[in-house]
Amino acid sequence: MFACSECGAQSLRWEGRCKACGTWGSLDMLADAGNNGAVDPVALNDVSCRPAPRTATGFAELDRVLGGGWVAGSVVLIGGEPGIGKSTLLLQVCGRSATRTVYVASEESPGQIALRAQRLGVRSDSLYLLDTCDPDAVARTLTAEPPGLCIVDSVQSLVCARVDGVPGGPAQVRGAAALLVPAARAARCTLVLVGQMTKAGDLAGPRFLEHAVDAVLLFEGDRHLRVRALRSVKNRFGATDEIGLFEMGERGLREVERASDLLLTDRRPGPGSVVAAVVEGRRALCVEVQALLVGERRPVVRRRAQGVDARRLELLVGVVESLFCGEIAGRAVFVNVVGGLAVRDRGLDLAVAAAVLGAQLGLEVDREAVVIGEVGLRGEVRPVPRLEARLKEARAMGFGRALVPAGSGATRIPGLELREVEHIQDALLPWAESVASS
Ligand code: TYD
Ligand code: MG
Repeated sequence: MFACSECGAQSLRWEGRCKACGTWGSLDMLADAGNNGAVDPVALNDVSCRPAPRTATGFAELDRVLGGGWVAGSVVLIGGEPGIGKSTLLLQVCGRSATRTVYVASEESPGQIALRAQRLGVRSDSLYLLDTCDPDAVARTLTAEPPGLCIVDSVQSLVCARVDGVPGGPAQVRGAAALLVPAARAARCTLVLVGQMTKAGDLAGPRFLEHAVDAVLLFEGDRHLRVRALRSVKNRFGATDEIGLFEMGERGLREVERASDLLLTDRRPGPGSVVAAVVEGRRALCVEVQALLVGERRPVVRRRAQGVDARRLELLVGVVESLFCGEIAGRAVFVNVVGGLAVRDRGLDLAVAAAVLGAQLGLEVDREAVVIGEVGLRGEVRPVPRLEARLKEARAMGFGRALVPAGSGATRIPGLELREVEHIQDALLPWAESVASS
């Protein structure tokens, strides 16, 4: 067996050039070649279970999403649409960290990055920019003098000379990851890869990257609004679906403890607008759901969901239709969670159903109330986890009433009147009555 002294890759034959990292004359014979390359198994009891050491990122919200800070030798992918604030966040992280950091300027020039740093008031003696698009050069730099943190902004603008294919395409990104990931692991350096995301929510280029890394964080939000959420969708070192909240301002991103006020600031109550109290990660949030129904008896029906799972919307519209007004069938339905957050919590169901029905009937839901509950196929409202946290958040946001699933045994919150709902029909009863009498 031979091993490359540069990248550690092993090979059965000696070769002039390492196949993995391309270095010439770096293959050395391994001392113990007597076992035919077999690997000794390790007893489970002998494997160390010590938690990986962590380094704080400088942002409590980012630490929360990572599960306690950067892990040495781990690889984190941060994805998001262009302009959402990935580069801003990472540059601010650099400003708050004393760890020697290498920032690979593959997308923007060092000049542009320095300008952004100036605008953000980021100063650092431990930050170094690497002006290259060559992942090979980055890998060598990591090996030669390992930094604590390496940020590649962005991975899609790297160009691997030895790989065919368009920059940013699957082959190129795969080639770059194959060089960078082992180099970072060997150097015990935290590697952060920035990935541009398409509108559809997929990471541009290959999904392969998601498998090659330890954690995938997605930066979500509406570019035109201030609030941003960083969500962990994969994390080998922490919980998934945890979110961190930020606000984009004049001088970059600021952490926010409570995003509900930002999300509800421009709310104009009316038919088709309902506020839900949801739980994302470990925190409760109030969000506004808006529904718009247009057209009549269209042969091809459009259903558009933003911030709500499209299949969930399909199902909820079906339930509302079957119970109340079949005529929704021929109308286009648009549903949006204001602020650009993608809500995965089923506790949003009742608000979505109520918004759709309100839009259909032209009636407003009680504007003093938040709406909480999962909805089943027969229209029954089911209990949701963490009801108390949701109610506290609703009260803190000034709501006086809450529609909650029946039998969920909620603790009373002073100043918040609870109305138990067994079936979406119960939640909608006041409207149904006013429709009948009109
Ligand atoms: P950027 O971080 O470059 O986004 P990404 O790297 O995800 O493509 O920029 C985010 C947007 O935020 C950009 O359109 C400009 C704006 N912005 C601010 O509003 N305030 C600031 O302090 C900065 C640096 C950017
Ligand atoms: Mg950027």
